[in-house]
Amino acid sequence: MKLPHPIPYQGSKRNLADQIMRFYPDNFDRLIEPFAGSAAMTIASAFYFKATHFIINDINEPLTQLWDNIINDPKSMIKHYHDIWHGQHGNEEEYYYQIRDKFNETKKPEYLLFLLAKCVKAAVRYNSQGGFNQSPDKRRLGRNPQMMRDDILRVSQLLKGKIEIYSTDYSNILNLATTNDLIYMDPPYQGTGLNGGFNYSGNIEFDNFVISLFELKNKGIPFILSYDGRTGNKTYGSPLPDNLNLTKIEINAGRSSQATLLNRKEITYEAVYLSPALVDKIDLQKVTGNQIYQTELFANHG
Ligand SMILES: C[S@@+](CC[C@H](N)C(=O)[O-])C[C@H]1O[C@@H](n2cnc3c(N)ncnc32)[C@H](O)[C@@H]1O
Repeated sequence: MKLPHPIPYQGSKRNLADQIMRFYPDNFDRLIEPFAGSAAMTIASAFYFKATHFIINDINEPLTQLWDNIINDPKSMIKHYHDIWHGQHGNEEEYYYQIRDKFNETKKPEYLLFLLAKCVKAAVRYNSQGGFNQSPDKRRLGRNPQMMRDDILRVSQLLKGKIEIYSTDYSNILNLATTNDLIYMDPPYQGTGLNGGFNYSGNIEFDNFVISLFELKNKGIPFILSYDGRTGNKTYGSPLPDNLNLTKIEINAGRSSQATLLNRKEITYEAVYLSPALVDKIDLQKVTGNQIYQTELFANHG
């Protein structure tokens, strides 16, 4: 059965969730996603009973309000989406811009859901004044309300009563973690072909982020970090310090959309880094098995 995924989001880890979950420890209390976006790992983890409690956070407040409504008041979000979606017929493009203006004025989550469902590449783009400025995808109406309804109901069922939702800087969320939790981090980063250069709301400062990683390491908190990537011979992302002692795994993410457009056969690899405390809890040899992954123990080649 397909995983429910109500919020369309560029950079979603939905298609890699299976591969990333292979590095989970057998038992942990909570999954914490400080850079949740469309919360693909949280949804997959709930769906496959990997965790029973969850924390999601994103600096983008309307997005976290959308999460709160989807999970805790699904019927009202379903109705909003239905009404907004049906309003577009015969006037699709202008209607999109009207909803975009309404969203920028009110920041109401139901408008954001429609914008994400209908905009080019489901890419969250904000201008310097914080206004959502992505254009509509003129070829599509956006996910139809019936499918959206099913996804919203299923996600609500999976997560209601089990999740805390925050909208703050990731560093405040890391402070909540204990050694019994697992943190999955997918920060925004610049200059990558994967999700950098996309103007998510908010950003992180690399040096502060590295300090946070050292703190987690010193506290013995297990984490998985999605960090850089490469397509063909091109590598993206600044290297992480070797003395974080992270284990780097490269996951085959299939053909990149850029390569597909250019009709080339380039494969995209996405790197995940496992913290030492996590590696202590899993049988890495068993998990990595036969050459699906290229594992570089205690080494980092950016
Ligand atoms: C790469 S996306 C995460 C995608 C997610 N893994 C998914 O499956 O959809 C990064 C997210 O980090 C959020 N973000 C940016 N700066 C942040 C910060 N300082 N603290 C918390 N979240 C932040 C962005 O709004 C964006 O949603």
